Amino acid sequence: MDQASGLRKLKEEYSGTKPVIGSSPPGTKIIAVSSGKGGVGKSTISINLAISIARKGKRVLVLDGDLGLANINVMLGIIPKYTLYHVIKGIKTIQEIILSTPEGIDIIPGASGYSQLADLDKVSRDTLINGFSELGNYDFILIDTGAGIHATVISLVLAADEVLIVTTPEPTSITDSYGLIKSVIAKNRNYKLNVLINKAKDDIEGRRVAKRVIEISEKFLNVVPRAVGVIYKDEEVEKSILAQKPFFLYSPRSKATHCVSLVCDTLVKEKVQEMEVERNLSSYFKKFFQLADNEKLG
Ligand SMILES: Nc1ncnc2c1ncn2[C@@H]1O[C@H](COP(=O)(O)OP(=O)(O)OP(=O)(O)O)[C@@H](O)[C@H]1O
Ligand SMILES: [Mg+2]
Repeated sequence: MDQASGLRKLKEEYSGTKPVIGSSPPGTKIIAVSSGKGGVGKSTISINLAISIARKGKRVLVLDGDLGLANINVMLGIIPKYTLYHVIKGIKTIQEIILSTPEGIDIIPGASGYSQLADLDKVSRDTLINGFSELGNYDFILIDTGAGIHATVISLVLAADEVLIVTTPEPTSITDSYGLIKSVIAKNRNYKLNVLINKAKDDIEGRRVAKRVIEISEKFLNVVPRAVGVIYKDEEVEKSILAQKPFFLYSPRSKATHCVSLVCDTLVKEKVQEMEVERNLSSYFKKFFQLADNEKLG
């Protein structure tokens, strides 16, 4: 399905679900959604959390920063013709590649297979930074960073205001989250770390996993990440992925939808209290390139 017909189909299916626009506090909060281990639910959570935030009347943008294997659009059943790759090459503008979904979220499709964002030359970097300055204002920007502790992922995280580290109860996910926390705070000890547990059997398991990540971080790194919520393992999520629809819409009464709404409430409430400073994707990418260059210099 091409981009236009994909969006049309979504619009038909979800008509009437547009967010109610309320008053927005100043500033943009940029949140990286990241993980040590792959396949833990970053992209699923990014999309559904974004929809949940948009339902609160907020303007939300999701950037698919997982350049190796960009897949957020696949979750929505949309195959975009153009991606960030075309912006970097100067073929398309940001406005031409952005996907505005009927749920009230905008998505910037990642440049699939184009993993060398940090290695772009000056001209391409400037094209990208200037391109982002055309964007409108958003209350929240979610960056799906991809998994791991590669320098690009760490820089995508550190350029944001805070990170949601998605962790599942699997022991490897817990240790890989610890590895990610360690790499991030090695660069910035004061960076704001949030842990979000996904695919938990129940609240008890979710809390136990969160406690474990917090305990090992405190013991060995002397930092205390904040637990922002637990999302249950829910077969409705799996079904929604197959149907290529966000579970928030596919199964609005599911446990997973309820869990994501609670996380959304926490994040949205906080923004009103804390955010005053103007931020956008141009400043985000300027910072990202600086961090990536520092990384290369050692
Ligand atoms: N709460 C959940 N309950 C059940 N299944 C889930 C849940 N969250 C995610 N999944 C499943 O986990 C799989 C991986 O999810 P997703 O692609 O979002 O992970 P990811 O962290 O973005 O992966 P990658 O590291 O490859 O980018 C999906 O197929 C989805 O069905
Ligand atoms: Mg993903």
